[in-house]
Amino acid sequence: MLLSERQIQRKVKALARKISKDFSGQEVLLIGVLKGAFIFMADLAREMTTPVKMDFVRLASYGSETQSSGRMKFTKDLETPLRGKDVLIVEDIMDTGITLNHLYQCLKARKPRSLKVVTLLDKPGRRKVNFQANYVGFRIENHFVVGYGLDCAEEYRNLRAIYVLK
Ligand code: IMP
Ligand code: MG
Repeated sequence: MLLSERQIQRKVKALARKISKDFSGQEVLLIGVLKGAFIFMADLAREMTTPVKMDFVRLASYGSETQSSGRMKFTKDLETPLRGKDVLIVEDIMDTGITLNHLYQCLKARKPRSLKVVTLLDKPGRRKVNFQANYVGFRIENHFVVGYGLDCAEEYRNLRAIYVLK
């Protein structure tokens, strides 16, 4: 086990406290990146003290499956217009950074009032593009991890803790 349920819950509470403080009572639109972020977003949203609304996106890279070309498309787009809103992208894990970098640029173009990113996990050693999240739960080594929303071939998302896949 890499991170226990207790460690995760403590971190989620701390992140929610910090984010709620930074947005100081303003409504925040949380945008969850499917599928991995759904459990983190559910817990984070319930710990926040500012009003929140929620929406989700799903992204897929196209072109070669094995190579991260950085070219991505929405397989599920937002249902909410972003113009004038305070928006927080909620991601499970940042690896190469390609997904978040792309999503950030796409959403920025829709003219939100502010756009920030929270990721529960960050593997900075794997980064291929220069991208930093505004809020990071845990920085971890270059392991493949599962649980708490994270999968391997769709398995293990429902585990309460986070494990290194052996
Ligand atoms: P990036 O575009 O390389 O930053 O990849 C981010 C996406 O890859 C995440 O949203 C996850 O879906 C997936 N991913 C990266 N590392 C892991 C891992 O250790 N476990 C499970 N999924 C991962
Ligand atoms: Mg995944």
